Amino acid sequence: MLLHIPVSPRGEASFSRSAGLTLLDRLHAMAPRVEVVTRDLAAEPPTHPDHSFVEASLMPAADRSADQVESLGLSETLIGELEAADAVLVTTPMNNFTVPSALKAWIDHVVRPSRTFDISPTGKIGLVPDRPVLAVVACGGRFGDFPGAQEDFFTPYFKYVLGSIGITDVEVLRLEGLGHGPESIPDALGEAGSWLERIVSIER
Ligand SMILES: Cc1cc2nc3c(=O)[nH]c(=O)nc-3n(C[C@H](O)[C@H](O)[C@H](O)COP(=O)(O)O)c2cc1C
Repeated sequence: MLLHIPVSPRGEASFSRSAGLTLLDRLHAMAPRVEVVTRDLAAEPPTHPDHSFVEASLMPAADRSADQVESLGLSETLIGELEAADAVLVTTPMNNFTVPSALKAWIDHVVRPSRTFDISPTGKIGLVPDRPVLAVVACGGRFGDFPGAQEDFFTPYFKYVLGSIGITDVEVLRLEGLGHGPESIPDALGEAGSWLERIVSIER
């Protein structure tokens, strides 16, 4: 099963969503029976961690009240979807040089102590078995070594935070310069070919 996580709130106007649908069309052409589960973070934005969530997530599971267990319900659902996925496709805008807040809220539900990572004297130990993740990131601006180029805090952050729960097989594909139009998208998506072939071989 491929877990598809679109993030953009812009519906059919979204470059990242349409790029994701193009990749899914290609995947279905290569592997017609592949199952796709969609978790749309714009249609159902995950809640921000509230008092009850924070308390419940930091206490031993056996000590949680029924209300505290309930406050972790969405977290358990999102973690369950991730654990069940052979691979994950995230399609998202870049917002203010990093992940949009809806994707950050998903991360806050999924990266949980004693559930998806343990703490040790030498750092966090990821508890989620590795699997391929591709993030297709729509960016209005460009990156590089030229005056006015912007920094990319998405890629290092996204790889680091997923690495903390054990997922290190992470690729980020940037769609750049979209403020000037979608011309760069076909070339960028061409780079996803080998990722798709890997997913097809996993789903076979
Ligand atoms: C709040 C906000 C912050 C943004 N920050 C950035 C940014 O840091 N870098 C960038 O290249 N584009 C930025 N953009 C532009 C979007 O990434 C761009 O419009 C992209 O196409 C949106 O994705 P979508 O087409 O999938 O909706 C920002 C847009 C908004 C609304």
